[in-house]
Amino acid sequence: MGLLQKILIPVLGLVLAFCFYSSRENFRPEMLKGKRVIVTGASTGIGEQMAYHLARMGAHVLVTARTEAKLQQVNGKLGTHTCTHKHRKANLTSQVVERCRALGAGSARLVSGSMEDMATTRQLVEVAEAELGGLDMLILNHVGKSYFNYFDGDVGHVQKLLNINFLSYVAMTVSALPMLKRSGGSIVVVSSMAGKVGFPFTVPYSATKFALDGFFSSLRQEFSIQSVNVSITLCILGFIDTENAMRAAADVLLMSPAPKEECALEIIKGGTLRQREVYYRYASTKLPLLLRDWAAELLDLLVRQRYRPERLRAA
Ligand SMILES: NC(=O)c1ccc[n+]([C@@H]2O[C@H](COP(=O)([O-])OP(=O)(O)OC[C@H]3O[C@@H](n4cnc5c(N)ncnc54)[C@H](OP(=O)(O)O)[C@@H]3O)[C@@H](O)[C@H]2O)c1
Repeated sequence: MGLLQKILIPVLGLVLAFCFYSSRENFRPEMLKGKRVIVTGASTGIGEQMAYHLARMGAHVLVTARTEAKLQQVNGKLGTHTCTHKHRKANLTSQVVERCRALGAGSARLVSGSMEDMATTRQLVEVAEAELGGLDMLILNHVGKSYFNYFDGDVGHVQKLLNINFLSYVAMTVSALPMLKRSGGSIVVVSSMAGKVGFPFTVPYSATKFALDGFFSSLRQEFSIQSVNVSITLCILGFIDTENAMRAAADVLLMSPAPKEECALEIIKGGTLRQREVYYRYASTKLPLLLRDWAAELLDLLVRQRYRPERLRAA
C-alpha cells in the first residue's frame, strides 16, 4: 500500500496531466483569418506588434491609441482614421494601420481616444460594431504613463491610472460583451508580474494590475456558472523590451528584457486557444509565482535583489 501511494499515484497524476495537455488544441495562424479583433494601445510596444501578427494572420484589426485624439480635438470628435495631420506621433499610429494593410490584414482601422474618459471607451466599441459588424476578440493592452520611483503620495495620479489601466478595461468589456457573446469570443487582458507580486517603484501601476486580476478572475467564474461562452485570458508578463519600459527601467532592473515581438505572439496564441492565463516568459514569471504562497518573504527578497535603487532617477 505504501509503495502504491508513493509511486502509482504520482505516475497516474503525470499520465493524466500529459493526457490533458496533449489533448489541447494547437495554435494555427489560420485560426485568426477573418476574425474581428480590437487591440488597444497599439501605437507602440507590444500592442503594435500584436497588430502586425494579427495582420499577417489575415484578421480584421481595429487599433486604438490616444495620440490621434489629441489632434482630432480640433474637430471635437472621436474619429476613425483619416490622418491628414503632420504630427509625428499621429503619423506613427497611421503607419501602424498602413503596415497592417501591407502585411495582409483583412482590414485595418484606427479609432482614437483617451481611455481616461469612460464615455470614450463606450464610443470606441460602438465604432467597432459599426465598422466591423461584430467582434471576436478584445485585446485590452493600453497602459497610462506612470513614474518608476518611490511612491510619491500623489493620490490623484493613482486615481487617474486606475481610470486608464483598470476602469476603462471594465467599461470596454461591458460595452463589447453583447458582441462577444454573439460570436463566442475572447477577452484578452494584458497584465504583469507586478499584478501578482508586490514590486517596488511601480506602486500605482501595480495597484491597477492587481485590480485587473480581481475583476477578470471573478468575472471568469461567473461566466462559467452562467455558461457564458466568452473566454478570459489574463497575461502575466515579465520585463519586455518596449521603448517605454526600457527607458523607464532598464538602468535599475538587473534582468534582461524579453523581445516584444515574441511576447505579442504568445499573447495572441493564448487568447486564441482560450487559455486562462499566459505567462511570458514562463521561467521568469510562473516559476517565481510558485514561491508566492509558501515562501512570500523569500520571494520578496529575491525580487528586491533584482533592483539597483541607487540608479533611480531623481524625482
Ligand atoms: N513592457 C514591459 O516590460 C511590460 C511588462 C509587464 C506588462 N506590460 C504590459 O503590457 C502592455 C503594453 O505595454 P508596452 O510596454 O507595450 O506599453 P507602451 O509601449 O508604453 O504602449 C502603451 C500604449 O498605450 C497607449 N496609451 C497610453 N495612455 C493612453 C490613454 N490615456 N488612452 C489610450 N491609450 C493610451 C499608448 O498610445 P498613446 O500614447 O498614443 O495613447 C500606447 O499605444 C501594458 O498593459 C503593460 O502594463 C508591459
